[in-house]
Amino acid sequence: MKIVGISGSPRAKGNTDILVREALKAASEMGAKTEFIALSGKKIKPCNGCGTCRTENSKGTCAIKDDDLPRIYEAIKEADGIIVGSPVYFLSVTAQLKALFDRSVILRYSKGVPVDRPGVPGGPEFLLKNKVGGAIAVGGGRDGGQLFTVNSILQWMLMQSMIVVGNNYGMGGSAKAGTKGDAINDEIGLAMAKHVGLRVAEVAGKIIE
Ligand SMILES: Cc1cc2nc3c(=O)[nH]c(=O)nc-3n(C[C@H](O)[C@H](O)[C@H](O)COP(=O)(O)O)c2cc1C
Repeated sequence: MKIVGISGSPRAKGNTDILVREALKAASEMGAKTEFIALSGKKIKPCNGCGTCRTENSKGTCAIKDDDLPRIYEAIKEADGIIVGSPVYFLSVTAQLKALFDRSVILRYSKGVPVDRPGVPGGPEFLLKNKVGGAIAVGGGRDGGQLFTVNSILQWMLMQSMIVVGNNYGMGGSAKAGTKGDAINDEIGLAMAKHVGLRVAEVAGKIIE
């Protein structure tokens, strides 16, 4: 079982990194192989709406090839579970994570053919289908938009036909931390992140059994 954790923060070694690593640690204690991917320091371009990914000639690939997203997509395509964390930026995910979400439309296409869905016949499966997903958000405010942010992440996962899990508390991890590294002092936030890791590993383990 492989579980990939993505930290959507542009700030290296910040609170999101801490929380995603906490979730991965719990998953690895359940026997998962884990990989941590930070978006900080990576070149990530936004979707420019060119539509190349929707043409048959493109074979479901993105026209933007000179950045770090293709490698990240390769890593999540191989995973059984995906944990995504984001700092709250104006009540939602960071621009870097939104770019990853938007350009992941290529994971809903294969060989340029949209997959089978209501009203659109044909095509193979979504490439992230049935992978297990969990979400974590950290904001500087106590109620600073963590729930909206977790929801945005889970909605992306649902759009990819993934199976989403919570953490026995609620919809996902929610932490309060503002300054860099402060998440280590948020015991409840750390526990919530840990339980996201446990749930993702638990359900992914059952699916690949
Ligand atoms: C551009 C920007 C917008 C932010 N917006 C919010 C917000 O809406 N709500 C909130 O609680 N915190 C907000 N914050 C605070 C961050 O979510 C908080 O500092 C978080 O711990 C950063 O995580 P990181 O260390 O992983 O980057 C914002 C921070 C930045 C830089």
